[in-house]
Amino acid sequence: MTQTNNIQWHSLASIESLRHQVCDEIVQRATEAIATSGKFSIVLAGGHTPRAVYRLLRDVKADWAHWHVYHGDERCLAPDHIDRNSLMARQAWLQYVAIPESQIHDIPAELGPVAGARAYAQTLKEVGTFDVVLLGLGEDGHTASLFPGQLVDNSADAVPVFNSPKPPLERVSLSQQRLNNSREVLFLVTGAGKQQAVDNWRNGVAIPATLIAPKESVEIFCYEVDLDA
Ligand code: 6PG
Repeated sequence: MTQTNNIQWHSLASIESLRHQVCDEIVQRATEAIATSGKFSIVLAGGHTPRAVYRLLRDVKADWAHWHVYHGDERCLAPDHIDRNSLMARQAWLQYVAIPESQIHDIPAELGPVAGARAYAQTLKEVGTFDVVLLGLGEDGHTASLFPGQLVDNSADAVPVFNSPKPPLERVSLSQQRLNNSREVLFLVTGAGKQQAVDNWRNGVAIPATLIAPKESVEIFCYEVDLDA
């Protein structure tokens, strides 16, 4: 598989412009994908920044019947727990649009890390290259639930995570390899607390985010982070 080194950093002047630019990018990619292949697949991220983008997407006019939604990671909590990424995405966006329920693929993390990862790997078996993967960046450089210093089995599409430095301890994450099996990755990076992680990334220090190299491009949308530091 050919992977790209095409990384574009974008510094946005306001949080609103970041949200709108990411929303527009997703919709444009969806339109192109549906025109060429009849469907659009997107992998969602947790966190405050993605949630604000989801709220914009709920008011967009799109060809929702052809959207297929996956998640990059999930916390091992009950499906109706307030900290579930899947619940957040449904409440912010998915419950308002006409994406068929059979095309919304939550990670069954309530089964626990091992069984949840195994079940989601099965779900992903028939799924080819994603069109768009959304990712956040943690202050420690983590992305999805791939944390610094934690080795995961890259031969699997979905992996169990124990001892997460950020609660809850147990999670399910897509592996680096599966996240890279995408045309495009959009990173949403907001807040001065991410400066160190961004500096490390730009200076070639290995953090989980630097392992993300999809087929076409990585677009990193930043706000309140100095790219000249
Ligand atoms: C988690 C969070 C986390 C988040 C980043 C960025 O599961 O612990 O979802 O991975 O994506 O910390 O989040 P913000 O966009 O809220 O800064």
